[in-house]
Amino acid sequence: MARRPLIAGNWKMHLNIQEAQQLAQNVVKSTIQANDRDVMIAPPFTSLSIVAETTKNSSVILAGQNCCWADKGAFTGEISPLMLKESGCSMVILGHSERRHIYGESNSIINKRLLGAMQLSLDPILCIGETLQEKESGQTMDVLELQIREGLRDVKVTEPAKLIIAYEPVWAIGTGKTASKEQAQDAHAFIRGILGKILEKNVASNIRILYGGSVNPENVDSLMAQLDIDGALVGGAALKAEMFDRIINFI
Ligand code: PGA
Repeated sequence: MARRPLIAGNWKMHLNIQEAQQLAQNVVKSTIQANDRDVMIAPPFTSLSIVAETTKNSSVILAGQNCCWADKGAFTGEISPLMLKESGCSMVILGHSERRHIYGESNSIINKRLLGAMQLSLDPILCIGETLQEKESGQTMDVLELQIREGLRDVKVTEPAKLIIAYEPVWAIGTGKTASKEQAQDAHAFIRGILGKILEKNVASNIRILYGGSVNPENVDSLMAQLDIDGALVGGAALKAEMFDRIINFI
């Protein structure tokens, strides 16, 4: 089974409701010809309903940028998987480096979120990646292995499409410094190997692993040509309709 490419746009804390609607209209246009790949966008929570309305007759997949493990309750500032589903989301980004590093989210919190999302059939994109300091001290593979093992604790995956991993080296996010295609491929092959140890092999070989960190129209084609790179998680360039269009239509 070939892995279907996924181009995912993470809008982070950008765009007002009207800007979100406009960008979503453009993303819908960009996906009309893109039948052999999936396209996902994760708007801020305040724009989910307008974006859901704008994309409803298209193949664009909607995602949350984070979620709680509980359906409801006293969790000020959080959003539940149920609420995301009700708003039209079928995926959720979890463990993004900004959650880990600005808000101190640990592997075990991220694991809790992931289990909660999966229980409600909200497909998680688990983000992992090493910092510059970890890279320079030769700890990249250890950090990635720990993030995967702890992030996926108690997770049972029967359908590979239901779990997505995003490798985002922290030093490459929003910096304009992309991992070289060889560095990215090496990390992705390593990640697939770890997945093979903790999940069933045939499941692991079909899980999509996205690359994230300064993906742009110039580097997307060569990244996507790598054996174990199955998609891209795009921040800055996903906010510009023309750039994201080119990324969606990578060759
Ligand atoms: P960037 O962000 O494309 O702006 O580097 C990627 C991300 O944070 O997911």
